[in-house]
Amino acid sequence: MATESKTNVPVHVSLIMDGNGRWAMERGKERVYGHFEGVESVRACVETAVEAGVKYLSIYAFSEENWNRPQDEVTALMGLMVKAMAAEMESLDRNGVRFMVLGNRARLDKELNDTIDRCMEMTAHNSTLTLIVLLSYSGKWDILQAAKKMAAEMLEHPERREEMENMGVDGFDRYLVTAGIPDPDLIVRTSGESRLSNYLLWQGAYSELLFTDILWPDFRKDEFRAALESYAKRDRRYGKVK
Ligand code: IPE
Ligand code: IPE
Ligand code: MG
Repeated sequence: MATESKTNVPVHVSLIMDGNGRWAMERGKERVYGHFEGVESVRACVETAVEAGVKYLSIYAFSEENWNRPQDEVTALMGLMVKAMAAEMESLDRNGVRFMVLGNRARLDKELNDTIDRCMEMTAHNSTLTLIVLLSYSGKWDILQAAKKMAAEMLEHPERREEMENMGVDGFDRYLVTAGIPDPDLIVRTSGESRLSNYLLWQGAYSELLFTDILWPDFRKDEFRAALESYAKRDRRYGKVK
C-alpha cells in the first residue's frame, strides 16, 4: 500500500483512455490488441486509485460516436467489456470497489446489459472506491436526456412547475446520469489529443485537465501517480481572487 503523503488527493479522477489503436499499430498488430492491453491499464489505475485514497474513478470506455467505427471493432470491444467485467468483478469486490456503468444502455446488447446488472448488484455495498465506466456515453446525450426527463416531470407534476423554474445548477445535476457523483476534480486524456471528445461536458466545467502523450496501454501505476502529483500542485481558484 502507498506510503506517500495523502495531501490534496482528488476525490474524483476521470480518464479518457485513448491511443489503444495506435499502440497496437506501432507493434504491427490489430487495433483490438491495444484494447485488450488497455484492460491491464484499467486494473493498474484502479489499484493505484485505491492506494492513493481516490474515492471515484471514472473511465471513458466507449463514446456514442464510437458506434460509427467498423462493425468488427465495435463487436470486439463489446465482447471485451463482457469478458473483462466477468474476469475482474470478484477481485474488484474483494477490494471494496463499487462498480457502475453509465451511458445510453439501450444501445447495448442483452448479454452486456445482464453482465453489467450482475456486477453492479454484486458490488453495490462497497464504498472504498466507486469505479464508473462511461459506456455508450456522450456529454451532449447526457445533457439532452436530463432536459427530457425534467420536461417530462414538469408535465406530470404541474404543481412543481414553480419549484423547477427556480431550479439552480445543483437541481439540474440530479437529472444527469452522474446524479449523486461529485464532479471530476481531474480529467486525464492520454495519447496526445487535446480535446474532450464529447465527454463530461457539464460535469467537467471546472475540472483540472491533464493531457499526456502516453498511449493508454502504457498508462500504468507510475503514470497515474504522476497525474495525481500534477493535480496536487494545482491552484484551483473557481473564478475568485486568492
Ligand atoms: C481508445 O483508443 C479506445 C476507444 C475509443 C474505444 P482508440 O481506439 O481510440 O485508439 P486510437 O486513438 O485510434 O489510437
Ligand atoms: C474518445 O476517444 C472516446 C474514448 C476514449 C472512449 P476517440 O478516439 O473516440 O476520440 P476522437 O475520435 O479522437 O475524438
Ligand atoms: Mg482514439
